[in-house]
Amino acid sequence: MENIIFIAPPAAGKGTQSVKIKDAYHLAHISTGDLLRAATKENTPEGLLIRNLMESGGLVSDEITEGLLLKRLAEHDCDNGYILDGFPRNIKQAHDYQELLKKLNKDVGVVIYLALDKEIARKRIVGRESCANCGAMYNNMIDTMKPKVAGICDKCGNPLSKRSDDNDVTFERRYDTYLKETEPLLEFYKQLGVLETVDSNQDADKVFSDIVKILDRRKK
Ligand code: AP5
Repeated sequence: MENIIFIAPPAAGKGTQSVKIKDAYHLAHISTGDLLRAATKENTPEGLLIRNLMESGGLVSDEITEGLLLKRLAEHDCDNGYILDGFPRNIKQAHDYQELLKKLNKDVGVVIYLALDKEIARKRIVGRESCANCGAMYNNMIDTMKPKVAGICDKCGNPLSKRSDDNDVTFERRYDTYLKETEPLLEFYKQLGVLETVDSNQDADKVFSDIVKILDRRKK
């Protein structure tokens, strides 16, 4: 199975779709957002710096992000393929990743662009809740994504939590950062001939079935 990179605006469903693909295709799921959030829990100057940058809606430095990514890629569950959720996020990271692939003699795989309207992204951010125990994702503003019992994970019964950067003000900044830094990657990967697009304005199961169609077509 080839590796997958998701490029998408905030809240387009990178995390939601990564979990579904991971379960269906047994790929490792690497979210740089999750790696960075874990780093903020360490009470160090670097952890504090990362938290401030994330809460401002900007990007964390390439050096810190790529350092965490390299460590994660060395773990054994990545040997059979992985999903990159949130990386690369700018042109420098995309070039650095191409260099890494060259050294490892590996292909980039498929890059899937999850296209989403800005106002839908805003609604998804403001209503998002997730389970810190099993990673399941919910949304209390979207009927089809609500947990059965408000605030409780359907899968493991853990209380759900909200991210500190999931508010209206930070959303605007994250969206601007996406337009400026990340959207240019679409042209970069189009030029490499590996870009596929999925309409993420649809419900999550339909988005997933469109992704499966792409992955199955590329396997042939
Ligand atoms: P990150 O954690 O990657 O945040 P993001 O890109 O803003 O993306 P999200 O996690 O908000 O959304 P998602 O696309 O995963 O959507 P989800 O599935 O959760 O990054 C956070 C920060 O870390 C960045 O701002 C930056 O500071 C830093 N960072 C990360 N990577 C970096 C890098 N490479 N370099 C530098 N800095 C980096 O879905 C969202 C909600 O919608 C959920 O509630 C879900 O239930 C719901 N939902 C999903 N799909 C659907 C659907 N089809 N229909 C209805 N509801 C849906």
